[in-house]
Amino acid sequence: MADRPMIEIDAVSRSYGIYKALDGVTLDIAAGEFFSLLGPSGCGKTTLLRSIAGFDTPTSGDIRIDGLSTISVPPNRRPTNMVFQNYAIFPHLNVQENVAYGLKRLKLGAVEERRRVGDALDQVRLSILGQRKAHELSGGQRQRVALARALVMRPKVLLLDEPLSALDKKLREEMQVELRSLQKAVGITFILVTHDQYEALALSDRIAVMFGGKIAQVATPKEIYQRPRTRQVADFLGGMNFLECVIAGDMDGKVTVETLSFGRITLAKPNGFVAAGNSVLIGIRPERLRILWDDERAPHEIEGIVANRAYFGDTTHLMVNVGQGQAPLSIIETNNFGADDLPLGAPLRLAFEPNAFVLLSQEGLERAE
Ligand SMILES: Nc1ncnc2c1ncn2[C@@H]1O[C@H](COP(=O)(O)OP(=O)(O)O)[C@@H](O)[C@H]1O
Ligand SMILES: [Mg+2]
Repeated sequence: MADRPMIEIDAVSRSYGIYKALDGVTLDIAAGEFFSLLGPSGCGKTTLLRSIAGFDTPTSGDIRIDGLSTISVPPNRRPTNMVFQNYAIFPHLNVQENVAYGLKRLKLGAVEERRRVGDALDQVRLSILGQRKAHELSGGQRQRVALARALVMRPKVLLLDEPLSALDKKLREEMQVELRSLQKAVGITFILVTHDQYEALALSDRIAVMFGGKIAQVATPKEIYQRPRTRQVADFLGGMNFLECVIAGDMDGKVTVETLSFGRITLAKPNGFVAAGNSVLIGIRPERLRILWDDERAPHEIEGIVANRAYFGDTTHLMVNVGQGQAPLSIIETNNFGADDLPLGAPLRLAFEPNAFVLLSQEGLERAE
């Protein structure tokens, strides 16, 4: 059965007393997928990953891996392997010994064992450091030993719990690129836990965003960034200008809303959206508002005044006042045309595309204060 999911998480809950660390999580992950669990600290990511690995047992629900229920299957009998947040490598062993450690119990024989260790070290580009003691390695190298140690077991699913969070920014970005090409090369399912939205966006085929033990949305990086379902998801994935507005029409899978600043806007209605009541929440990302310079005109414009400015080198973030009683708009401009030199109080015109707005579900509206 080619298209049976590799992992089927079926109504999984995990309680600690009355506290629910996981609350009815249902999720399918395909074979060969790079899948990320993204959410703030404490939302249940590690608990879910440990449940897939078998280090934790759900209070209710089932997890099937490659079609087989894993309830009561111990971690070492599952086709999974986990890279822990703290790497858990042995400082007194050298790189080869660290990588070979888990293989011992398989009793493969010295030749096969050496071959497998060699392959794993090649995969993470550590072959020349095989004799190095683990405590003589840099953070990035230790991270690769941890990866090799998991890969050498030839799992069908590699579970990675915030594997890059201990590295500094530059190294982390390098390792992200490596992680992605490693996954492509070995072709197995990767499940990455991260609280870093950029990491999830850059690496994943699909992302599940979690809050409070529940899945808020599962989608591709582009869809989850451009079409977040709720205010909470939109907020977690980056900046967003939220506008509470009045519904003017609701028909044929579209909703028309009346906004103070942007006039009337027609948006596609997401699945399951009920346009109840007469107010609704919409949003537009800061980079979807573009400054119009000199005489340039756009089909859709809005006027404003620079209220605040922050310089980020490559970009400038501006707060723009667009009228009394309306929240200032946040915009992001690359520093090509002079956004970094705009004085406070300068008038400007912004272009926008009506289809850059997203309609956020009422769930998002309810959670807004
Ligand atoms: N052994 C435990 N006993 C009690 N509460 C726990 C235990 N493990 C995790 N939790 C709680 O469950 C929630 C989810 O934890 P965790 O899965 O580690 O979150 P994340 O990895 O997303 O930061 C947290 O509030 C945490 O305090
Ligand atoms: Mg965690």
